[in-house]
Amino acid sequence: QKSAHEESLTETLRWAAKFFRGTLESDAGKLGSIYLAEKRGLSEKTIKTFGLGYAPDAWDHLFTAAKRAGIPQKHLLDLGLISANKQGNSWFDTFRHRVIFPIFSVGGQVVGFGGRTLESDPKAPKYLNSQESKLFEKSKLLYGLHAAKNEIRRMENALLVEGYMDVLALHQAGMTNAVASCGTSLTRYQAKILRRYTSRVLFMYDADRAGQKSMMSGIDILLAENLTPFVIILPEGDDPDSFVSREGREKFLRFTEEKMLSFQDFQIRFFRESGDFAEPDLKSRAIKVMTHTIAQIPDRIRRELYLQELSKKLGLTLSALQELLEKEEGATE
Ligand code: UTP
Ligand code: MN
Ligand code: MN
Ligand code: MN
Ligand code: MN
Repeated sequence: QKSAHEESLTETLRWAAKFFRGTLESDAGKLGSIYLAEKRGLSEKTIKTFGLGYAPDAWDHLFTAAKRAGIPQKHLLDLGLISANKQGNSWFDTFRHRVIFPIFSVGGQVVGFGGRTLESDPKAPKYLNSQESKLFEKSKLLYGLHAAKNEIRRMENALLVEGYMDVLALHQAGMTNAVASCGTSLTRYQAKILRRYTSRVLFMYDADRAGQKSMMSGIDILLAENLTPFVIILPEGDDPDSFVSREGREKFLRFTEEKMLSFQDFQIRFFRESGDFAEPDLKSRAIKVMTHTIAQIPDRIRRELYLQELSKKLGLTLSALQELLEKEEGATE
C-alpha cells in the first residue's frame, strides 16, 4: 500500500521518464540519440520499448522544466533527481550528459533511473543510478523483468546478465527472456523474484574476473532459492552485449547451446583455471566450497544427486563427500 507521498513520487517519476524521453527525441538530445544508435547499435524500436532518454550537458534542464510543471522541489530531492550544492542554497540536475535508462517495476511502473555517461574517459562514474529509497531498492529489482517475464515463463528459462546494455542488446536480437541484476552481485531477493517465473536460470555475466567470481557466489544464491543455474562463459573480454552485437543472433544461440555448463562443471573449470586444483591442499578447499554449494539446495534428494555427480566428476568416494556435506548441512541449519 502506497502512501499519498509515494503516489506523488511515482507521478513525478513518470513525469521525469517522459521528460528524458522527450529530450532524447528533441534537438537537445542529438548527442544521446547518436550515441545510442551509432555507438551502441540500438534500434528505434528498442529505444521506445525501454523508454530510453537523455539528460543534456546542462545544470538545470530538468529542474527548470519541473518548476514549470509545478512539481514540488522536495519530490525531486527525495528522488535524487536534483542535488544540492555544498552550501545547500542551490540545486542542480543529478543526471547530466547521460543517456537515461528508466528502471521499471515488474508491473511496468518507473521506479528509478540509471544514467550512462557519453564520455569514454573514466573521470565520472560510468553509470549513475537513482538514490535508494522505499520505491527504489536496486537489490530487489531486476532490470528488464517487466518486458521479459512472459517469455521467461514460456521458455521456462531466464537469461541472467549484468547490465542495462546487455538486456537491451539481447532483447533487440530476440532473446527477450534476458534480465539484469544491475551490478555484479545477485541478491537472495532477486533470486526469489526469478523463482516466481521459472526454475531454470542461464547465468551469463561478463567474461572478466569480476563477472566469473560473481557467478561463483550467485550460484549458491540461486540454488538456495530452488533455482537450477546453468552457466555460459563468454569469450574473454566479452559481455553479452558485445558478443551478440558482434556475432549476431544465430551465432549467439549456437554458442549458448554448445557452451552451456552445469553449475558444477563451471565451478570445476573456475577452480582449475585459478590453479586451485594443482595441489591437494588447495583442491580440498575447493571441494569444500563445492560441497558448501550443494548444501544450499533445500531438497534432500537433489542434494544427494548433485553429490553423486560431484563424486563422479572428481573421482572421489561418495562417503568422503557425504561426510563433508553433513558438516555443511550442520553449519547451514
Ligand atoms: P559493467 O561495468 O559490466 O558495464 O556493469 P556495462 O553494462 O557493460 O556497460 P557498457 O557496456 O560499457 O555501457 C554492469 C552493470 O553494473 C551496473 C550497471 O547496471 C551496469 O549495466 N553499474 C556498473 C553501476 O551501477 N555503476 C557503475 O559505475 C558500473
Ligand atoms: Mn561487468
Ligand atoms: Mn559489462
Ligand atoms: Mn557492456
Ligand atoms: Mn554461505
